[in-house]
Amino acid sequence: MQEKIIEAFNFRHACKQFDPEKKIPEKDFGFILETGRLSPSSFGYEPWKFLVVQNKELREKLKTVSWGGQGQIPTASHILLVLARKSYFMKYDSQYLDDFMRNVEKLPDAYVEGKRKAFKKFQENDFKLLENERTIFDWACKQTYIAMANMMTAAAMIGIDSCPMEGFDADKMEAVISSDFGIDTEKFGVSHMIAFGYRINEQPVKTRQTRDDITKWYN
Ligand SMILES: Cc1cc2nc3c(=O)[nH]c(=O)nc-3n(C[C@H](O)[C@H](O)[C@H](O)COP(=O)(O)O)c2cc1C
Repeated sequence: MQEKIIEAFNFRHACKQFDPEKKIPEKDFGFILETGRLSPSSFGYEPWKFLVVQNKELREKLKTVSWGGQGQIPTASHILLVLARKSYFMKYDSQYLDDFMRNVEKLPDAYVEGKRKAFKKFQENDFKLLENERTIFDWACKQTYIAMANMMTAAAMIGIDSCPMEGFDADKMEAVISSDFGIDTEKFGVSHMIAFGYRINEQPVKTRQTRDDITKWYN
């Protein structure tokens, strides 16, 4: 089991160019999305939205603002544009969180108030997330990266390549998702993209620091 997992971690690399002729079967892509959906998030509030961009013209729009995705965006079988929710959704007193606690988490009324209070303290005092729009957006983005990692690992486990991408101009990207994807950028921002598909070139040799370099033990 451990060997299989490490094998998948070694198989995964930031694939720069995919075989444009090879498409990921629907069932496999559904499996990848499912591992994103099941990912953990702070307080369980799922501050993400996954856009699957298969339309050629829309991909071209993404490519024009993405210096880090020139080879990946046109050749990938699937492109996932991962949005993070802004304060409109994620501030402790939002309607979204109220609905979420009641309808998704199915919490009783008394518990909803308690959780909101704890979340207010977390946002205001513990993590100081309400200082500006950026602090809360970045906190939401951090969590989308957990889903990203899980989806890329899950893909690698079934022999599918991927590339995470934040090589884009964020302002221009927001303009594109507003004008071409019909997304309200007061409510959502772009966290990152992930390309999925099948490699066309050999993967480069993996370089990493040693485990000792990056680990300190306190026994
Ligand atoms: C958050 C994040 C953003 C990244 N953005 C890009 C990108 O825009 N374009 C790209 O080619 N690679 C991108 N990468 C890939 C990294 O450069 C790559 O993961 C790293 O160099 C390690 O190589 P490996 O993934 O092949 O092991 C990104 C990786 C992460 C985690």
